[in-house]
Amino acid sequence: MTPHTDTSPAGNGSQDAQLAFARRMDRIDGLGHYRRQFVGIEPDSATGATGHTPSLVAYLDGNSLGRPTRASVARITEFLTHDWGTRLIRGWDEAWLDLPLKIGDDIGRAALGAAPGQVFVGDSTTVLLYKLARAAVDYLRVDAEPTRTEIVLDTDNFPTDRYLLEGIAAERGMTLHWIHSDPASGVTVEQVRQAVGPQTALVLLSHVAYRSGFLADMREITAVVHAAGSLVLWDLSHSVGSVVVELDLCDVDLAVGCSYKYLNGGPGAPAFAYVRSDLQDVLTQPIQGWMGTKDVFTMGPGYVPADGIRRFMSGTPPIVGMLAMQDSLAMIEEAGIDQVRAKSVALTEFALTLVDAWLAPMGVTVSSPREPTHRGGHVTVNHPAMRQVTQILWEHDVIPDFRTPDALRIGLSPLSTSFVETFEGVAAIRDVLRGVLLGQSGLAGGANSGLGTGLGTGLAGALGGPGVGL
Ligand SMILES: Cc1ncc(COP(=O)(O)O)c(C=O)c1O
Repeated sequence: MTPHTDTSPAGNGSQDAQLAFARRMDRIDGLGHYRRQFVGIEPDSATGATGHTPSLVAYLDGNSLGRPTRASVARITEFLTHDWGTRLIRGWDEAWLDLPLKIGDDIGRAALGAAPGQVFVGDSTTVLLYKLARAAVDYLRVDAEPTRTEIVLDTDNFPTDRYLLEGIAAERGMTLHWIHSDPASGVTVEQVRQAVGPQTALVLLSHVAYRSGFLADMREITAVVHAAGSLVLWDLSHSVGSVVVELDLCDVDLAVGCSYKYLNGGPGAPAFAYVRSDLQDVLTQPIQGWMGTKDVFTMGPGYVPADGIRRFMSGTPPIVGMLAMQDSLAMIEEAGIDQVRAKSVALTEFALTLVDAWLAPMGVTVSSPREPTHRGGHVTVNHPAMRQVTQILWEHDVIPDFRTPDALRIGLSPLSTSFVETFEGVAAIRDVLRGVLLGQSGLAGGANSGLGTGLGTGLAGALGGPGVGL
């Protein structure tokens, strides 16, 4: 059996059957050993899988901020004490100047389906999206075809993507063409086909939607955009490290993604950008800094862009921020992104099974796609009480996240999340929601609130205590 595809046995069966299923899946999970390589996860002899340090019950937010790896602790310590500590300024010549390109190639190989020389690690996601979007519209509209006055985007794009495109449209006298996407069904190929035409300079979309987890059809949409003579920029922030991405195969023009989610780069770790090789020397990026010049240390009078991907760099690269992502990338490459994706699908299938069994009867709806081929690494569930539920869960070390107005996201990071953790997390959501709906006394009793993991009792007891405004 392929361990990550057998997600059916839990079905709508009893809680014990579901827990037994989760334990079995953890035992046969071919990627299960990676969990122990993350800080805060210790071996758990009770389940045969792995458990957390005592306080944390379930971390369901790796799609927002991934956990640190143990290897990163060692790497960062070594960097401080040796690389920076003893090599000092020599470090730039010895390694650091090329690190953004080296790690870029690593990300391209392990997670993006990108041949070398097309990816670099640099600024924040927001800044890289701005740089590539501006470079694209300047190339098509300003330099070549002034009639291309529109930028196409969808209403469910991440806020920063929408805001920076508003800014670019204002700077360049362009208009935004909005696709009104259904958060649950996402942006369809047909919607993009309707939106693009000879007036389109650029299309910017998320590959995996931040809210619903909808996984867009990168290959078809890219082809449709190209048929209209336009360029496409994909936001890969929620894709990289959780779904299979094939940038070269899909003939993608431009892509940007962040490194602090499934790449475990740490808070504020720099993003990466992909520019297809044949576009690199024809695009001009708007932040012409010295690190993107042909010969950085000539320090000449005028800006002469470097050849290749380096020209998209601007200032001094944030080397310290690039350290941790290398360890997670090594794991992804060793495991294989196909296997990572297979486990991700199995985890989200399992979460949906539990949601249907436990949360749906309380009025919770699912706004993530049911069809796994259209779903990324997280599952989003909706209920008017989810803001309060999330707050209570966080206070009790169960950590999903909340997105206004009523969405709770269950993020399942394939290398660091187990099936038992998923079980415990959804069980906790159930118990807290039940408590909120019934009033706090509703939590303490009930045949379903003892989970056999110790969790249900703990939460119920805590929620029954004073000071919890339900
Ligand atoms: C899909 C998406 N795009 C862009 C961003 C913005 O990234 P940053 O804050 O690193 O610029 C995020 C942040 O979470 C995101 O999820």
